[in-house]
Parts: sequence; C-alpha cells; structure tokens
Amino acid sequence: MVIVEGVPAYLYLDEEYIAHHLGRRQRGYGRGGRQQIERDHAHIQTGVRHGYTLGSPIGMLIENRDWVNWQEGRNQRVTRIRPGHADLPGAMKYGFHDVRNSLERASARETAARVAAGAVAMKLLEEFGIKLHSHVLSIGRSDVADQMMAEVDAAREAGDTVGGVVEVIAEGVPIGLGSHVHWDRKIDAKISQALMSINAVKAVSIGEGWDLLDRWGSEFQDVIEPVTDPDRPWQRKTNRAGGTEGGMTSGTPLVARFVIKPIATLHNPLPSVDLDTGEPVQAHFERSDVCQAPPAGVIGEAMMALVLADAFMEKFGGDSIPETKRNFEGYQATVGPRLRYS
Ligand SMILES: Cc1cc2nc3c(=O)[nH]c(=O)nc-3n(C[C@H](O)[C@H](O)[C@H](O)COP(=O)(O)O)c2cc1C
Repeated sequence: MVIVEGVPAYLYLDEEYIAHHLGRRQRGYGRGGRQQIERDHAHIQTGVRHGYTLGSPIGMLIENRDWVNWQEGRNQRVTRIRPGHADLPGAMKYGFHDVRNSLERASARETAARVAAGAVAMKLLEEFGIKLHSHVLSIGRSDVADQMMAEVDAAREAGDTVGGVVEVIAEGVPIGLGSHVHWDRKIDAKISQALMSINAVKAVSIGEGWDLLDRWGSEFQDVIEPVTDPDRPWQRKTNRAGGTEGGMTSGTPLVARFVIKPIATLHNPLPSVDLDTGEPVQAHFERSDVCQAPPAGVIGEAMMALVLADAFMEKFGGDSIPETKRNFEGYQATVGPRLRYS
C-alpha cells in the first residue's frame, strides 16, 4: 500500500500514467528473474474521483505477484548471512533467527512503491512545467552504451555483479525552492538524502561536485550574465553547480549524480558465517540482478520528484491546482523584474 499526502485537488491522475513509470523501473539491461514475474500496477484506492484528485490522501495498492511462489515453498529460513546486505545488522538489531525477516524488507522491491508515489509527484510537477529524466553515465569502467552492456555480460559470466553512475535531471524548476536559512530544508541536502536512501547507493553529488577538486574557483562557479528578455534578465553560462545555490534552486536545471554499488548477492557467493553455528559457509544466494543502474535512474527520478513536489507545495501551497497555479504564476511574474531592479 502506498499513501501520498499533500496533493492538491483537481490534479488529473490515471493508473496508466503510474503504470508507465512502474514499467520503466522493471526494464533495463542486467535485471534478474524477478522482473519477469512481476508486472507492476498501482491500483488507486482512495483520493481520486472521476480521474481527479480530491485533496485527500491518495492510496494505491501494488500487488506482489511473487506471493504464490512463496506459498509453494520458497519461504525457507536463511541463516547464511550475506555481506553487503541488511542481513547481519537486521538480525542482530531485531533479534531475528531468520535472516529472511530483514532480507525481504530491505529488498529493492520496496522501490516499486517509491516509483508509484514519485509518479504522482511528477504529475503534479508537470502541471507547472517541471519535467524529470535520467540516464546511466557509466557501468563498471565504461561510459559507452555497447561497452556498458559488455560490462554487464562480463560480470554475469563471472558470476559477479557490477555498479554504475546515474544522473537525474529536473528541467523547468523555478528559482527559490528550498531554503538558505534552514539547514534541514536546503534543497541540495534534501535531494542528497533522498537519493542516498535508494538501496545500494553509496555516493551522491549535486552538479559536478565530484569534479571540483582539480578546478579553481573561477573555473567552477556558474557566471551570471545579462540577457534582454524582460521576463528573465539574467542567464548562466554553465550549470556546474547543478541548479542549486545556498540551498535553493537557482533556476537552472537540477542535476544530481549518484553511484550505485555492485550488488552484494553473487552467483559465486562470498565467504561468510552461519547465523546459527558461527561456522564458515558461503553466503546465501537466490535470484538476483547483475546490475541495477538502469532501474536506479527511474527510482532516482521518483525520489527527486518527491523532494521537489514537497518543496514546491511548501513554497506555493494551495488546496486545489487552480489555487496553486495562481500562487505560482504570481511569484513567477515577480521574480524576473525583482532580480533586475533590486
Ligand atoms: C533497483 C534495485 C535492484 C536491486 N536488486 C538487487 C538484487 O537483485 N540483489 C541484491 O543483492 N541486491 C539488490 N539491490 C541492492 C540491495 O537492495 C541493497 O544493496 C541492500 O538492501 C543493502 O543496502 P545497502 O547496499 O544500501 O547497504 C538492488 C537495488 C536496487 C536499487
């Protein structure tokens, strides 16, 4: 069950739109067997009437089609702890004698719920001209599409896994979302937290953050230059900061990158210990992806959309889309001239 709160009334929302994004999460070179089992669909249960949101919480149900396989015997106890997973800390923290209790909840299966919620946020943002997309920048040591696929094939053949770098971009973001006065509302910090929360993500950068160490200050800042457009009397030569300054959006596209690690469940399992006996064993293996960078991009879009939608509604408020639009348009009509004359 997915519950999304804070969406104003009169947003057109249909299940097909959400299904489109859920489908994107399931595709991608390097995904494992589970994606053949599940064709995700979010059934809207509450908060929408005749295709339009009501302003009340939106409840969506995503069935787990894998459930029948569990009834037929896959539900066995696991004690051969896998390094790189929630297995060991989860068992210790909750006093579990069966690693499966934490293994399944920590699984990226939960990201289907994030993508469904993120699709609602994306739909809201689209009403205001904000669009998100993502792409894989590199897999393993390669940044060219064919070679990336070869990296996945090589890892699969070796019974191993491979990670990658993913970029998420939001275009059409208005200037001034977030805050420079509240550390917990800084938009770059919120985006980083949201992306870091994706399973297996180990590093996040905003804009070209990872590349700045070999540059001087003059080479990194996004120089502001005048233009003659009365609605927007300034422009940027570059977008190295990735669309944020001082914890606020700067009016240029938001760009964030993240590294997703090579996943920890290996066909050739790593050495480990048994939870019951403490004896050396090979870590548990079951159905697993080889590379999850492509779906991680879709999940990254969802997470960025959720953060942006929150910041957007915090700034513009409103109980219905027309009210939010009035607030938004009023603000947009003033920011250009204000910047110019202040
Ligand atoms: C889309 C996606 C699919 C994933 N699929 C798998 C998988 O098939 N096997 C696996 O071991 N880990 C997979 N992971 C990663 C684990 O969920 C993650 O490594 C684990 O929960 C431990 O969290 P941590 O790596 O953030 O410490 C996947 C992650 C994502 C984002």
